[in-house]
Amino acid sequence: MSPDDLKKQAAARALELVRPGMRLGLGTGSTAKHFVDLLGARVAAGLDVLCVATSEATQAQAMALAIPMSTLDQTPELDLTVDGADEVDPQLRLIKGGGAAHLREKIVAVASKRMVVIADDTKLVETLGRFPLPIEVVPFGLEATRRAVASAIAASGAAGEIKLRLRPDGSTLVTDGGHFILDAHLGRIEQPEALAAALNAVPGVVEHGLFLGIASCAILASSSGLKILGTIE
Ligand code: 5RP
Repeated sequence: MSPDDLKKQAAARALELVRPGMRLGLGTGSTAKHFVDLLGARVAAGLDVLCVATSEATQAQAMALAIPMSTLDQTPELDLTVDGADEVDPQLRLIKGGGAAHLREKIVAVASKRMVVIADDTKLVETLGRFPLPIEVVPFGLEATRRAVASAIAASGAAGEIKLRLRPDGSTLVTDGGHFILDAHLGRIEQPEALAAALNAVPGVVEHGLFLGIASCAILASSSGLKILGTIE
């Protein structure tokens, strides 16, 4: 089974959690894209839901599928958000932001009663950090903020190179919110809570990709079946 088939299987299981009338947060990335496609088919068949997207890309996909869309201003409380992740640990702590959408993803997930993660099981790790941690920063004062981020990382006991994220053409990647991303290549994050607190205290950091205590369930697909972390229903 291909990695894409596994992502689709996880998305299909998450779709079973959707009930008529639900207000949904729609994630970003290749796995979340499967969920939105499957949801679009259900909506076309008559399912009544109202959704908020976590990125311009997901918004465009959902609108093309005629999924009824709202905003967190009009619909500030959601029932369920389904989103992918770059890493998941056994305690349901996540790294997100590989698709540069973690700011909106975190706002939408926290506005939801539940966040369910969908992924293939290669995303499951014992210790977070193999995937570079995305840190969204304002463009103003970039170098000063980068140094403050490096100090915060060191203070939390982690270490590694910090790289400004670029587009394939070499230009600086700009997020949907007009910010830049610093990717921290840490290898291992032994104390995610300490690192999150240290990064939260840096002026210029808009949001980092550590999602701690936010997800209540992860659906992880492998060729031998689905593995569920946390509580699914
Ligand atoms: C985007 C994200 C994605 O959910 C994460 O990068 C996983 O993406 P994919 O499903 O394509 O592996 O956090 O900001």
